[in-house]
Amino acid sequence: MAGAKLDPSYFITGASSGIGYALALEFAKRARNANAPLALAITARREEALNDLRAAILEVYPACVVVVKRLDVTAGIDAIRTCINDCHVAMGPIHCFVVNAGVAARMREIGRDDSFANDAMVIQTNLLGTMATVDAAVHYIKQNGINQSGLGAHIVGMSSVSGSLLFLRGSSYCVSKTALNQYLRVLALETRSDNIAVTILKPLTPLPRRSVGLDRHAHQPTYCAAPVRDRA
Ligand SMILES: NC(=O)c1ccc[n+]([C@@H]2O[C@H](COP(=O)([O-])OP(=O)(O)OC[C@H]3O[C@@H](n4cnc5c(N)ncnc54)[C@H](OP(=O)(O)O)[C@@H]3O)[C@@H](O)[C@H]2O)c1
Repeated sequence: MAGAKLDPSYFITGASSGIGYALALEFAKRARNANAPLALAITARREEALNDLRAAILEVYPACVVVVKRLDVTAGIDAIRTCINDCHVAMGPIHCFVVNAGVAARMREIGRDDSFANDAMVIQTNLLGTMATVDAAVHYIKQNGINQSGLGAHIVGMSSVSGSLLFLRGSSYCVSKTALNQYLRVLALETRSDNIAVTILKPLTPLPRRSVGLDRHAHQPTYCAAPVRDRA
């Protein structure tokens, strides 16, 4: 998202570590440098890590409004809707949704053993959890007329190069990101006259990630941003 216009408010899923954490801090740095107003809703399941992030953001940019909300994206769309509405009440209109929460699959050949549960969880989180978040976000945007304002609205989906390439023993992860790409392309078509931008992010490198036990701060992510369609 380098060089992209800074929105005044963001709702980020999976902000407790890795890319979501780094993005929240980056938004705060850019807003501070531009002396621009910024409100961030940072969400994930681990509230303590989110509170640490909140402290780090306020250290960077004390004027930033930061709302911490616990959210499990697999908890169902009603829980996601409630979370978005609570954030709206706490911070005002939300213009950009960074739908980032996701898990890595344990590498496993298809049919190798009887442990399918991890594959199911990857689809549940990366695909169904992401779809539910996007659905709730678009509903919120339209219901609250966010897209009618001059700034418009923006949905950013965190995909992966694995959504375009094949990785042996990574079937569920590849499927989750390939399907997510298609889902976001359909969204871009459906909202083409609605002043809602849709962007698919595809991190290019295998970055360290907490879900496979690596250090959350050890990398500077590189992104391939594919704006499916900009605001109308
Ligand atoms: N790192 C890479 O190399 C890479 C490459 C391509 C794509 N990506 C994508 O980038 C996104 C972020 O990954 P990352 O590398 O930053 O990994 P990470 O450090 O493991 O972070 C994943 C984030 O997702 C959250 N999360 C996981 N399950 C969740 C759930 N059920 N509900 C809500 N939040 C959940 C985690 O928070 P809690 O555990 O606190 O809930 C955490 O904040 C993922 O979608 C991933 O597929 C990463």
